[in-house]
Amino acid sequence: MIAQVTSFPLSNAARIAAALLFFMAPLAASQAATFSDTIAQRTLACTACHGQQGRAGPDGYYPRLAGKPAGYLYNQLINFREGRRHYDLMTGLIDPLTESYLLEIAQHFAALDVPYSAPAPVKVSPQALRRGEQLALKGDASRQLPACVQCHGQTLTGVQPATPGLLGLPRDYINGQLGAWQTGQRRAIAPDCMASIAKRLSADDLASVSGWLASQPLPVSTRPSSALPAALPMDCGSAPVPMGPRP
Ligand code: HEC
Ligand code: HEC
Repeated sequence: MIAQVTSFPLSNAARIAAALLFFMAPLAASQAATFSDTIAQRTLACTACHGQQGRAGPDGYYPRLAGKPAGYLYNQLINFREGRRHYDLMTGLIDPLTESYLLEIAQHFAALDVPYSAPAPVKVSPQALRRGEQLALKGDASRQLPACVQCHGQTLTGVQPATPGLLGLPRDYINGQLGAWQTGQRRAIAPDCMASIAKRLSADDLASVSGWLASQPLPVSTRPSSALPAALPMDCGSAPVPMGPRP
């Protein structure tokens, strides 16, 4: 069965609303007659905001989902649902879903290997770029800051099962997330290593590391690494969460 593509232009809000209807009532027979019932169809409600195939929205605000580790995506859905992250428009959507459906959605987006667009030009001084590179690759022992690569992987493309990559993210998004950890607006499952790290970053260091990360080209392989070469430098609650619905 082929999905009916509407031939008249819909506003973004109307498109989201139409996709939501299908998402919220996936078993209705009338809809099953019009749409092929695949996970890609069901997640049109998500891609209305997160971009085609979850490649990210156009304005740097709606994050990419495609290719991020499944355990990471799953943990975030649980984090939104349990109030450790906040975005009401989305939380309302995932609130009623079972954990196995959330896992299926996470696995769907994780499996998509679609290209990234080139990084948008970032305004950052050469000095800030050097500091950002130092923090990302070496850390700063005097501030008890491990290097980002120690957890996010040597190529910063993330590590299975639950650590996201840090490349290909807009600077505003990185700043927003680190700022949210500093204020407690975003939390991860305890022990929340990212909260400790974000709180140790000065305003200058935060801007330096986000500026450096956002200006890096993507490596040839953007897939998350399967494992880290050494133990994590700090405990992170989210990293070892077993994949799959928790009791
Ligand atoms: C109305 C727009 C909107 C819709 C619809 C929406 N999202 Fe989101 N989503 C967002 C925004 C905005 C964020 C970032 C919030 C923040 O800054 O923490 C987000 C964050 C996320 C994250 C965390 C990403 C990361 O890298 O940390 C995941 C996972 C996610 N959404 C999955 C979904 C799924 C699955 C659906 C469909 C069931 C969905 N979203 C529907 C707007 C939306
Ligand atoms: C001790 C391990 C560890 C170190 C070191 C670390 N991170 Fe993280 N980071 C994580 C984990 C685990 C997550 C996923 C947290 C969650 O589940 O929400 C994460 C998530 C993030 C995110 C959210 C990404 C997204 O898509 O929303 C950002 C941004 C981030 N880290 C930036 C950094 C930066 C910058 C550094 C270096 C200054 C750093 N991290 C160092 C473990 C670490």
